[in-house]
Amino acid sequence: MGEFPDWSLFRLLRYPGARGGLDLHLPAHGRGRGLAPALHSLLRRPPGSWDLPELPAFGGPLEPEGAVAEAQAACAALLGAERCWFGVNGASGLLQAALLAMAPPGSRVLLPRNLHRSLLHACVLGQIEPLLFDLPFDPLTGLWLPPTRTHLERVLAAAAPLHPTAVVLVDPTYQGLAADLPALVDLIHTHGGPGLPVLVDQAHGDGAALAAGADLVVLSLQKAGGGLAQSAALLSQGDRIDQPSLERSLLWLQTSSPSALLLASTAAALAHGRSTAGERQRRRALARASRLRQRLEGLGFPVVANRDPLRLVLATGPLGIRGTEADGWLLERGVIAELPEPGALTLCLGLAPPAALERRLPACLLDLRRELGGPHLPPFARPPLPLVAAPELAVGLAWRSQAELVPLAEAIGRIAAEPLCPYPPGIPLLIPGERIDAARATWLEGQRALWPGQIADTVRVVAPAAGPETSGR
Ligand SMILES: Cc1ncc(COP(=O)(O)O)c(C=O)c1O
Repeated sequence: MGEFPDWSLFRLLRYPGARGGLDLHLPAHGRGRGLAPALHSLLRRPPGSWDLPELPAFGGPLEPEGAVAEAQAACAALLGAERCWFGVNGASGLLQAALLAMAPPGSRVLLPRNLHRSLLHACVLGQIEPLLFDLPFDPLTGLWLPPTRTHLERVLAAAAPLHPTAVVLVDPTYQGLAADLPALVDLIHTHGGPGLPVLVDQAHGDGAALAAGADLVVLSLQKAGGGLAQSAALLSQGDRIDQPSLERSLLWLQTSSPSALLLASTAAALAHGRSTAGERQRRRALARASRLRQRLEGLGFPVVANRDPLRLVLATGPLGIRGTEADGWLLERGVIAELPEPGALTLCLGLAPPAALERRLPACLLDLRRELGGPHLPPFARPPLPLVAAPELAVGLAWRSQAELVPLAEAIGRIAAEPLCPYPPGIPLLIPGERIDAARATWLEGQRALWPGQIADTVRVVAPAAGPETSGR
């Protein structure tokens, strides 16, 4: 290993995986074990030989000809989409391009409160007004739940006077929770007569939103497929979204040198996921996930019921442990979870779960419960949010305003100038432009205690009589 300079990044790359421990985090290929085979072969070629520019024969995501165009067309057919574009800036970049194509400047878009921050950034870039809609909430785990059809009906009715131009759904969630998507998409498509177009953020999903009728779907191939980080795909169907607008938005946000490796990774992961070998790999992983779940439930561990068995979500509140505390304890013992939250810990089993997981994880969790367990935690407070809310000041204006830092308790009545966004999961608790009322300030104060070290005791608010910032701070 002497060939690496001793900088921390290089030390990390040398890290061989949790030796004797368990890697239960993304990417879903699990340090290469579940990597799409074609990608695996590519990476065995002489290092760097695959790092091609947009040669005519290779092309790029926006070129009409070349290998990339062919692979995109093949993947569209495989997934049942009309068009497919590969992306090299993760689901984040493609969600942004999709939103810019759906919503012109000044228009309003209905976004769920569990939106990924990239969508908020797209609102800034495209001068789009987010209309944030509240979601059902589970006080046992503190998790947002997918909307029911009735819930979404109420949201659409409440938002109707504000004339949204599009709706975004996140499905499945980071924790593998999923809605009755066909019912939701049908409702959005028919609401108030002509209906609205729907973008489904399926960063954690497999493209099933297309069969549910979604107009646009974004996939992240490292989260639910065997691709490398940053490999992603945008799928489209129908005529609600203008294709030239989509291509223009992709052009605005895409690097002029898309990585051939990441494009190949996207194609390989999509193709593998639908191949016989890929289905076999998935069935094996699912069978192991099911055995693990049964074993944990048999030992009295509360495992959250979800749609994706490869996301094992432990409800830690009934054990008397915070998810974040459990994460720290497990980390010290070499068990690396994906997503610690105040009332839950999400473990990503991946497409090729680690060896002997079914034996090793229950043993670790038994030790955890023995050492840290206690009385059931109190239920989590529901966020005090209206069913549909628009920030009072445009997100981009608020974010670029002259701002000042004030203690949370003194922020009541002020307008947020920055998001509060624990990461992961990258879901903002407060959005620039939102006015912080007393209930929100109290709730945020409570969140501070629940997300140790992730939320400051101060908040950046728009300065009195502030305009957009003109000089650097
Ligand atoms: C729901 C959701 N959407 C989008 C993203 C962004 O995906 P990426 O990291 O591939 O850009 C994430 C990342 O965690 C996510 O959880």
